[in-house]
Amino acid sequence: MSNTPWWRDAVFYQIYPRSFTDGNGDGIGDFMGMAAKLDYLAKLGVDALWISPHFPSPNLDWGYDVSDYLDTAPEYGGMPAFRAFLDGAHGRGLKVILDLVLNHTSDLHPWFLESASSRDNPKADWYVWADRPPNDWQSCFDGPAWTYVPERGQYYYHYFMRQQPDLNWHNPDVKKAMWDAVRFWLDLGVDGFRLDAIGTIFEDPDLAPHGLPLDLARLRRLSETAVSRADKRRVQRYWHDMFKRQWGQPGVHELMKELRALVDGYQGDRVLIAEDDNIAYQGRGDDEIHMVFNFPLMRTESITPAHVRSNQRARQKALDRLPARGWPCNTLGNHDSPRMRTRFGGVDPEHSLALARLNAAMVTLIRGTPVLYNGEELGMEDLVLDNPADLRDTMAVWYLGQLTDTLGVPPDEAARRAADMTRDRCRSPVQWGPGPNADFCPAGVRPWLPVHPDHARGVNAADQETDPDSILAWYRRILALRRAEPALRRGEQRFVDGGSGSVLAWLRREPGSPRAVLVALNYGDTPAILRARSVSGPGTVLESTDRQATGSAVDARRLRLAPLSAVVVALENRKS
Ligand code: NOJ
Repeated sequence: MSNTPWWRDAVFYQIYPRSFTDGNGDGIGDFMGMAAKLDYLAKLGVDALWISPHFPSPNLDWGYDVSDYLDTAPEYGGMPAFRAFLDGAHGRGLKVILDLVLNHTSDLHPWFLESASSRDNPKADWYVWADRPPNDWQSCFDGPAWTYVPERGQYYYHYFMRQQPDLNWHNPDVKKAMWDAVRFWLDLGVDGFRLDAIGTIFEDPDLAPHGLPLDLARLRRLSETAVSRADKRRVQRYWHDMFKRQWGQPGVHELMKELRALVDGYQGDRVLIAEDDNIAYQGRGDDEIHMVFNFPLMRTESITPAHVRSNQRARQKALDRLPARGWPCNTLGNHDSPRMRTRFGGVDPEHSLALARLNAAMVTLIRGTPVLYNGEELGMEDLVLDNPADLRDTMAVWYLGQLTDTLGVPPDEAARRAADMTRDRCRSPVQWGPGPNADFCPAGVRPWLPVHPDHARGVNAADQETDPDSILAWYRRILALRRAEPALRRGEQRFVDGGSGSVLAWLRREPGSPRAVLVALNYGDTPAILRARSVSGPGTVLESTDRQATGSAVDARRLRLAPLSAVVVALENRKS
């Protein structure tokens, strides 16, 4: 039996519940729909599902404003549907992790309603209260971070929207209530949690002001209008300085250690993945969070071989420094960021699809646990919302209002800016078929967000199911290969200098094994030859974007790569 915990071998797949599949015909995704797609997910070859918040919520931030941590939202089917889904997933060998929002609750959570009702109720100290705004802090979503409550004659603090008050984690009762919720779901059998925004849990105890000459709306506007390098650098500095006293403050490590100990008390290697890229939250490598996301990999204008190499070297070095050697977690997209095909692919559909295939191979075959975002396996693209009335992301709705009402931006431009920054772009319904509503929900029903029109042009699961050259088929092939090849899951990683700037190539090999696997991706528009002198020559193609090449013999020291192609080669009897 292997001692490797399951989550190191696993491929994770994020489900945004509202947009995944509508099982009861109300235009909103739900657990009935998710359960119906479990066979699809098993066939795709993923191992674990991360479900974005499924708790009851007034949905000002689409579930990230939780009003009950011990239940499932009625529109998602309530607890019976959740249980049926969890059983169905486990029955197919799929793990399920939930999204745990620790920093804040909804302002309609009974905890907050009680806390806000007076200054001397039992929960009076469960949130962060002040007699008057003690500083100029901003919420990162909607302006001032302090909001007034007449019943208390006081202000509460919120890092996110004003409907998302921050909990006071210095209060042991808060911790106890939240740890009870954690136990509730672990007792039900869930396999772990993705931890939302842990960096924001504590604030600077001195409450020192940021002192910048602008507020959030103006900073957003400045970010859009900055052209010169100097201006862009200034904007970056402003973003950092505006929020630096509101995240990454002392206390998080101790809290995460406690949570880890709680989770470790359960059998089955339950896992914690933090929405943060700071490797320090992995503690010694075995006593805090199991994995943090490698966000710097996706924080770039384009994915180039040089970017990936330098990202991987830096991350690996930092992880190797942890006494228990940390494990990486790579991703190229989620419900907060543009879709990876759009973000890294440009406007030409064929070109962007080819790049999406390369990036899929990159993120799933480099060292670490990959996390995919629902729909990326279909080549889904960002939705452009022409009509501001269709915006559902409240952060964008707020900004649109600021642009027109406060900053005097003409309505057309304001609408374009809001469509550009809204997170709705990547949250449109998953496209299951070419028909009405992309088979996300029945014809004639209005989905909660518009469906992307490209579902009628092949960007859907049904059409791709029967096409062996579809991007869906490609994802299935590389995930099957990853599952079959221990080197691709557990092997060490060494980048190969192949003499061409457009080629990204690396070797994976388990220590002591004679078998190595070489992955080569040509990001260029012209053919390339990988001259990997450090690699022993004869090999067999395990997978390639050119299906015909699979199984053929190649010389790995002189590997021909078609434009925008991927090749994975097995090398036997490698001596070093
Ligand atoms: C991070 C989540 O990913 C995002 O969607 C949410 O709006 C904020 N945290 C607040 O919970």
